[in-house]
Amino acid sequence: MRIRTLVPADLERLSEINSTFISESILVVERTGEGLEVGWRLAECPLAEPFAKGRAYDLSEEDLARSRRLYEAGPQEALQLIAEDRARLVGLLEVERWYWNNSGWLWNVIIDRDYRRQGLGRQFVHRAIAWGRQLGLRALILETQTNNINACRFYQTMGFRLCGINDHYYTNDDLNKGEVAIFWALELM
Ligand SMILES: CC(C)(COP(=O)(O)OP(=O)(O)OC[C@H]1O[C@@H](n2cnc3c(N)ncnc32)[C@H](O)[C@@H]1OP(=O)(O)O)[C@@H](O)C(=O)NCCC(=O)NCCS
Repeated sequence: MRIRTLVPADLERLSEINSTFISESILVVERTGEGLEVGWRLAECPLAEPFAKGRAYDLSEEDLARSRRLYEAGPQEALQLIAEDRARLVGLLEVERWYWNNSGWLWNVIIDRDYRRQGLGRQFVHRAIAWGRQLGLRALILETQTNNINACRFYQTMGFRLCGINDHYYTNDDLNKGEVAIFWALELM
């Protein structure tokens, strides 16, 4: 097993990484208040039926175009790592440097299902932290979903803190659909 920098030839093979997951519980979002005095409360609730996310993290053409652009921009602009077991791709990390707010935006943290809970995600985040500190970034920031409870646990363990919610990120009905975007930040300074 090794972690190395992504190269362009990896891009057409990224779908080899099995990114599916199952959630036994989700974070239910309750919106309270009216007008400017609104609040959101997250409560973890077990699901009657486990939620299975298909291959939703498979990268679209748009994602791949961004990955190519980041690769061409070079290591000062993005950190792109691959975890590889012999010839098999088993993990992907992509972080982009955002100048406008001096942060690193984590586009992708994906570990193949067969390789989870072996510390690979932790190694990715440690590498992202080191990269961000070297560039003087103030924070790493990312978005995940309320139905990805294991990713939420992972980010919390890694030192990220919930910093926001957007109940109109995917559709106009995210609250009822049970998939709401939540944002996490890890301060670097
Ligand atoms: C979330 C994900 C990246 C974690 O990667 P990983 O390599 O399994 O994580 P690690 O083994 O490094 O875990 C580090 C710590 O995070 C926590 N953690 C990770 N997965 C967890 C889980 N399923 N449940 C509870 N805690 C978890 C644990 O504290 C773990 O330490 P431990 O194993 O010593 O207890 C991986 O599950 C994944 O790729 N999921 C599918 C894709 C995805 O959802 N990506 C995030 C999109 S925003």
